[in-house]
Amino acid sequence: MKQVHISTFGCQMNDRDSELIAQVLSAHDYRLTERPEEADLILINTCSIRQKAEEKTYSLLGRLKRLKSRNPGLIIGVGGCVAQQEGDRLLERVPHLDLVFGTRWINELPDLVQTVRQRGRRMAEVALDHPLRYLPSEKAFRPSPIKASVTIMHGCNNYCAYCVVPYVRGPEWSRPPEDIAAEVRRLAAQGVKEVLLLGQNVNSYGAPKGAGGRAFIDLLEQLETIAGLERLRFTTSHPKDLSPDLIACFGRLSKLCEHIHLPFQAGADTVLARMNRGYTRAMYMERIQALRENCPEIAVTSDVMVGFPGESPADFEQTLDLIREIRFDDLFSFRYSDRHPARASGFPDKVPEEEKRRRLAELQALQKGITLARHQAREGTWEQVLVEGTSKKSGGQWSGRTRTNRIVNFPATHLEVGLTVPVFIEKGYAHSLKGRLSPPSGEGRQEDSCCCG
Ligand code: 5AD
Ligand code: SF4
Repeated sequence: MKQVHISTFGCQMNDRDSELIAQVLSAHDYRLTERPEEADLILINTCSIRQKAEEKTYSLLGRLKRLKSRNPGLIIGVGGCVAQQEGDRLLERVPHLDLVFGTRWINELPDLVQTVRQRGRRMAEVALDHPLRYLPSEKAFRPSPIKASVTIMHGCNNYCAYCVVPYVRGPEWSRPPEDIAAEVRRLAAQGVKEVLLLGQNVNSYGAPKGAGGRAFIDLLEQLETIAGLERLRFTTSHPKDLSPDLIACFGRLSKLCEHIHLPFQAGADTVLARMNRGYTRAMYMERIQALRENCPEIAVTSDVMVGFPGESPADFEQTLDLIREIRFDDLFSFRYSDRHPARASGFPDKVPEEEKRRRLAELQALQKGITLARHQAREGTWEQVLVEGTSKKSGGQWSGRTRTNRIVNFPATHLEVGLTVPVFIEKGYAHSLKGRLSPPSGEGRQEDSCCCG
């Protein structure tokens, strides 16, 4: 048996693709190893969404040169978004690289590796019109026995001006709903309690037939009926495609968790227009208001970037202002970086790096205070926590997540991964909540009465 080591950068889609890579190769006599120095095959599943992410690939490839010179039989391959974008150029740039495979070439990996090995030929396969088949997720390749990600679509047709995704993931393509339902049924039968539906823009699932989000709602309704499944999430949503009917699913579908990740990217209308986002600040605020009116418990997280070309200090103030007004539960924030061939890479009025850094620091300080305050506001409440395992930080502590996706750490002796337990929240921190199974004296509930299946 040969050994493969896989390094993954980037988003949840890439994590799921790496599971698929492991699954495909294990059917061809490969077994996974954590140790690159023991591997016959090293694969890097890359991300190119921001410059920083892409740089990680090159620095890892640089470090692998030593292994290759010690073991000339070692095959090194690069897949994912950087591979898709660079193709042959990557082989030219990195002489110790053997294989470049595009985002749609995972199923063919065993053949590609075999060709490289037998013929001693370096190669790149990156055609985007190639079909990618999603095999049903296998327990052995999932990081958690009770949580799983299911890809429901790939690609994107939106062409936001800063974004490389449509170029490296190709046009939107949705998996047939019956495939997805069959996979989720299988996962539930294997003991999976929580499923995360993945796609670059899940709200346009099934379009054009599913215009208005109907196909996605039908899918959610179908998955809601699957026995054993307890929690359903999806990411990522696009504000322009978030229909009133989809908003109404929160609170209506009992398995759909009260959390939405809804990237806003910028607070000023002029910047949103140049980004080609297809909504205004007022439209975004309306959607959030509707979500909260419909489902007051809902947690809202978002993505934002600073320093998009032409973003003025006043535009940036509008971003801060939107954050103050909405008070996100959490926020992922980035400095804009040029991504060829995305259109904004050719826009004038680039914001200096130093200024982007300053804006990002200011924005992150603002959000840090809001996240902490929101966590502290949970103190004294009960949360339903899906137990995921023992806490990384301290012994005797268990860890799980609320339906709103907050991490909760709490002490317990007899517990099982996959149970949902009510936890009394004692303290809110910057990144998590701390709780206990039994309430402080006088609060009524007892530990042995608070476990449910
Ligand atoms: N520069 C900085 N951030 C970017 N993102 C996407 N493209 C860029 C870019 N060129 C951010 C967006 C997106 C998240 C995944 O990454 O905020 O939502
Ligand atoms: Fe990129 Fe915009 Fe598509 Fe999201 S919706 S993947 S930001 S082009």
